[in-house]
Amino acid sequence: MVPTANHMAPTMTEFPPRFREGIALFNAGEFFEAHEALEDAWRESTGEDRRFLQGLVQVAVGLHHHSTGNVVGARSVLARALENLRPYPDEHRGIRLKTLRRDLAPWLHALAHQEPAPALPKIKACDARLAASVDQMALKHAAQKAPSRTGVPMLDLRRQYALIREEIAAAIDRVCSSQRFILSDEVDAFEREASAFLGVAETIGCASGSDALWLSLVAAGVKPGDEVITTPFSFFASASAITHAGARPAFVDIDPATLNLSAEAVEQKLRSSQPPRVSAILPVHLYGQCADMDAFASVGKEFNVAIIEDAAQAFGAAWNDRRAGALGKAAAFSFYPTKNLSAYGDAGCVSTNDDAIAERLRLLRNHGSRQRYHHDEAGWNSRLDAVQAAVLRVKLKHLEEWNAARRERAARYDELLRDAGLLASEARSAPLHALETRREAFHIFHQYVIRASRRDELRAFLTAEKIGTEIYYPIPLHLQPPLAYLGYSAGDFPEAERAAEEVIALPMFPELTAEEQRLVVQAITRFYS
Ligand SMILES: Cc1ncc(COP(=O)(O)O)c(C=O)c1O
Repeated sequence: MVPTANHMAPTMTEFPPRFREGIALFNAGEFFEAHEALEDAWRESTGEDRRFLQGLVQVAVGLHHHSTGNVVGARSVLARALENLRPYPDEHRGIRLKTLRRDLAPWLHALAHQEPAPALPKIKACDARLAASVDQMALKHAAQKAPSRTGVPMLDLRRQYALIREEIAAAIDRVCSSQRFILSDEVDAFEREASAFLGVAETIGCASGSDALWLSLVAAGVKPGDEVITTPFSFFASASAITHAGARPAFVDIDPATLNLSAEAVEQKLRSSQPPRVSAILPVHLYGQCADMDAFASVGKEFNVAIIEDAAQAFGAAWNDRRAGALGKAAAFSFYPTKNLSAYGDAGCVSTNDDAIAERLRLLRNHGSRQRYHHDEAGWNSRLDAVQAAVLRVKLKHLEEWNAARRERAARYDELLRDAGLLASEARSAPLHALETRREAFHIFHQYVIRASRRDELRAFLTAEKIGTEIYYPIPLHLQPPLAYLGYSAGDFPEAERAAEEVIALPMFPELTAEEQRLVVQAITRFYS
């Protein structure tokens, strides 16, 4: 029997997965796949909906026929489809049947009179849950299709979003329902969860990684006029956070094997500093691999200087058995959207085992205020907002798995590049050179970076092949114009300058497929052959 009215709101069980998938595929113009999905739903259906689903299957089949040039087939199947859909109410099983029928009528007319086909019809949902679910399926589908259409992206955050969309929606809704957006329970909960993950006593959420760096330097006692030793081969914030604290960046060259700050060079610099004005060392855990934190710990101890980690790229990385964030006096993390743990906007945090630093940071990030309108010192507004904390809490639960996926992808690149004879080893020279992963390091491959001969040509070639790459970083910090007042010049840090000319980062994110990695390596092989 066919109903004439739709009295009851549909439940989710009335929208079986193949029905929702069929609609998503239909709306994406994938009519053949849509017909298969809707046919499965039809097979599983009983009673009153069988004819309705049969009608939808026929619409998909008719449009598929049209796409293959079978006009006669299209016309006859679409006519039967309209017949089957006719008895149902204007809104049925969460979809706007009236709109679909209205859009199909000119199709039949055009097919009968050999006129140009009208715009492709869409199956529109009138039920909000059905609409959301269909959108999510469409997103997943688009993500799976992405490689063939768009080459290989450097990073595709949509794929991660498709996997956690429902969790994120629930988390954001929780914040919106509470209407508490600033330093709420959500931020407290994130700080506790992050501390447990990192193995530290305290985590303090901030507005960005840059603020986290700047505020941790200030909280650790870096004063105007001090020097802070850091690497010239990093993102600009590693140096500008120092200048923001009123101190002077003192650059020291990098270790050519890992591209991290060289502990030996730092030691030399400290031995030759007369009189010593250095109050902190700021190693950066570049690309997700910790700098040599044993060496920095002993240098820091000998010269009585604080070690502040720039761990912006290294949430979940470790040195021996301790995580980045727990290796110095304080550590700064960035949750910029491209980071391995990322927010939906700017965000960052500081982690520390030092209660005094934690307390000072909580003051500094909130205008130096413990009590409203009473200010103990001149801090700033650098609070982590509750929506970002909610997003980060969802993602933190997946992070171990995502970091493991990055490591797997790095290992696969190593293997594919070696098998292609592209990666140099001790026994053989080749156009590409791998960076060293230190035995003590648990590298989370925020980026997969190699040195390449004819780097800029290779990059242009890969861009033409629609393969995303990046250069982290093309200009060392001592050569950046705003830092010219420090008096450095080209040639001062030869390893950093050479790295800036040679490095290239390949696509890297947890959802990157093995097939995409093969495409990247095949393209590199073509370039060098
Ligand atoms: C090494 C390093 N330090 C600091 C930062 C600054 O973080 P944010 O962009 O969150 O301010 C970044 C992020 O780009 C970074 O990569």
